[in-house]
Amino acid sequence: MDKILIHGGRPLSGSIKISGSKNSALPILAATLLTREPCILHRVPDLSDTHYMLQILMHLGAQVERASGTVTVNAEKIESIAPYEVVRKMRASVCVLGPLLGRCKEATVSLPGGCVIGDRPIDLHLKGFEALGAAIRVEGGNVKVFAPKLTGAIINLTGKFGPTVLGTDNVMMAAVLAEGITVIEGAATEPEVVDLADFLNKMGAKIEGAGTRRLIIEGVKELHGAEHDIIPDRIEAGTFLVAGAIAGKGVTIKRVVREHVSSVTDALIACGYQIQWAENSITVSPNGAVKPLEIATEPYPGFPTDMQAQMCALLSTTEGISVITENIFPQRYMHVAELKRMGAHVQLEGSTAVIQGVERLFGAPVMASDLRASAALVLAGLKAEGRTEVSRVYHIDRGYEHLDEKLSELGAHIERVKA
Ligand code: EPU
Repeated sequence: MDKILIHGGRPLSGSIKISGSKNSALPILAATLLTREPCILHRVPDLSDTHYMLQILMHLGAQVERASGTVTVNAEKIESIAPYEVVRKMRASVCVLGPLLGRCKEATVSLPGGCVIGDRPIDLHLKGFEALGAAIRVEGGNVKVFAPKLTGAIINLTGKFGPTVLGTDNVMMAAVLAEGITVIEGAATEPEVVDLADFLNKMGAKIEGAGTRRLIIEGVKELHGAEHDIIPDRIEAGTFLVAGAIAGKGVTIKRVVREHVSSVTDALIACGYQIQWAENSITVSPNGAVKPLEIATEPYPGFPTDMQAQMCALLSTTEGISVITENIFPQRYMHVAELKRMGAHVQLEGSTAVIQGVERLFGAPVMASDLRASAALVLAGLKAEGRTEVSRVYHIDRGYEHLDEKLSELGAHIERVKA
């Protein structure tokens, strides 16, 4: 297994370009199953998660071509069963359920297994499919959804922890081919949901209200092929903004949508960093004294759960007491034990982390446990004294395109040791 070695303390400067969004690319790739015609997607990030999704599409019968960031999917003939061997590597495989149900009126997909960021049920996805008229059967570790026909319905998709991103995606993908009008109340408003709706509309779907809590979907008989550019990855952008804050003397990220990252830039400004915007780029620079912060994760446009671990690394080195509350995945704190091994002072009280900022962190061997936790360890390593060795780097490769190379471009002393 590859490792990443970081010699901390090198100031970062310069600029890097943000890749296409992982969490847009995954459901959009799944959406190509909704048509017999070829679809062309640009800026699909080169990640293990997008590779897994392409493998699933191929397993289902689609023909896939990939040339650098452009992926062409031709799903002329498909089947509707995705077994455990192909879906087990990635929880987001669950988002093939909606398009398979929409197009084939049945889908059997192995249930997503345990997940290190806590219990991640799909009850809301299933509730939506049921409302459209599907029957659901769970047997042998698989979920089977089937319906002689799908009929539009009014569905509320908000659960105990708020709206569901992939649940909204899934139900929207089934509803585009249902008969009549579907209204999804309590829909997720994340930019990735809007990107998917834009793509579906290019394919001939009739979706209104993307980006608001209410989606109105007028079912159509069939969809056609389309071409689409995946939006920039706001979480990769946020991660590099925090890298610039924790160890930078002026870092610019290019190809970013300003409003997609405003909760992160607001947090950095509140901490005392200087943020400058240009047309498609943002620069973060130190601006004298920094301050601790109190922050809570929320659905978009609030502070994203996918940036909580990285913020935790930054606040660990910010003098004073900071408080983070995790409202989306209350147990998403695997990075804390590892940050503590680097000298951070973090105390967990339920879903809240109380962080006493320390003057320095110290390099240590640490272990990545999930994607964003791993990113947090790399960020901490940039600031720490001495050498940090991050193992289980495959977690990082699931969701960051060339993270080590991009940090190296900014001047970090970072190398990947191939296993
Ligand atoms: N939830 C339910 N029932 C459901 C679905 C969700 O109770 O049927 C709960 C979840 O347990 C959680 C909350 O609702 O407490 C929100 O979960 P959501 O369904 O929105 O998460 P997701 O769609 O499975 C996506 C991203 C995650 C990101 C979350 C929240 C993808 C592929 N994944 O997951 O991204 O954290 O939304 O924004 O889009 C990551 O990229 O590292 C990552 C984990």
